[in-house]
Amino acid sequence: MRVVAVANQKGGVAKTTTCAAVAASLAQDGRRVVTIDLDPQANLGLGLGLDEAELDGAGPSAYEVLTGRTPLALAARPARGAGLERLSVVTAGPRLAQAEGELFGQIGFDEALKRKLRAAAATWDVAVIDCPPSLGPLTINALSAADLVLVPVQCEFFSARGVVKLLDVVELVRERRNPDLAIRLVPTLFDQRNGICRAVLEQLRAELGADVSEVIVGVDTKVREAQARGRPVTADAPGSRAAKAYRDLAREVWSILSARAAPAAPASTGTDELPASGGGAGGGDRVQQAA
Ligand SMILES: Nc1ncnc2c1ncn2[C@@H]1O[C@H](COP(=O)(O)OP(=O)(O)O)[C@@H](O)[C@H]1O
Ligand SMILES: [Mg+2]
Repeated sequence: MRVVAVANQKGGVAKTTTCAAVAASLAQDGRRVVTIDLDPQANLGLGLGLDEAELDGAGPSAYEVLTGRTPLALAARPARGAGLERLSVVTAGPRLAQAEGELFGQIGFDEALKRKLRAAAATWDVAVIDCPPSLGPLTINALSAADLVLVPVQCEFFSARGVVKLLDVVELVRERRNPDLAIRLVPTLFDQRNGICRAVLEQLRAELGADVSEVIVGVDTKVREAQARGRPVTADAPGSRAAKAYRDLAREVWSILSARAAPAAPASTGTDELPASGGGAGGGDRVQQAA
């Protein structure tokens, strides 16, 4: 299974929109996809046809997966809607906001998600992770587990500063945890008529070159209409400009993922399902530090 994280510590830059549309597009292309909501605001499931009641603590969620022994597959629910049969969603769950604090108490907390993904590697071809608007432990978990991080960037005046900070974190994660983490910045909410938008995009391309995707997602009301219907835009309005852009992005993502060598076999899989007291391989990861 390949892993894509969608991250930017700024809110409102189209992370959730991008996560849902790329995950849906990969599933519409025949891949088995799980998408995981790591944002306590819990919008991802709503955009994929789940209703409020399903987000509200009915069954295990990303919170239970990250902080406990729940395997990923047990928390995954089918997305709703025609064309999305191969797409599953792990919702954030009402307690996810607590997870950052709880993770800090665990040894190896920044690789909790990676262990869960490895244990579920045979079930899906791709996992797409929606990150919260912060650079805390949830985002670090996603970056540590990912083959590729997509960074939606709204091309406006202050974006560049935020991107520099995120790039520093990506570099740290590469140095300490995940040397092969690839990155693509994706210009989103792009307004061709806006001179500042165009100037910021030019600057991004000049400074970051190949790390900026060729795909640009423009402002498109079809995106909002689709979300209001609980559908990703690639399924709801496949002929729209935004859907086309997201299909192109999904293809770029797939080609980056398929160009990577097969991952080395993990030392052991399913570690999270071993009892921590049993002395099994990896059991120590689950040991809680004394308060
Ligand atoms: N291409 C687009 N065209 C129009 N509106 C968009 C587009 N992409 C995202 N939006 C809207 O922008 C807002 C923020 O998007 P969202 O994906 O929730 O951002 P984030 O997850 O980064 O906070 C939402 O209201 C969404 O509907
Ligand atoms: Mg979001």
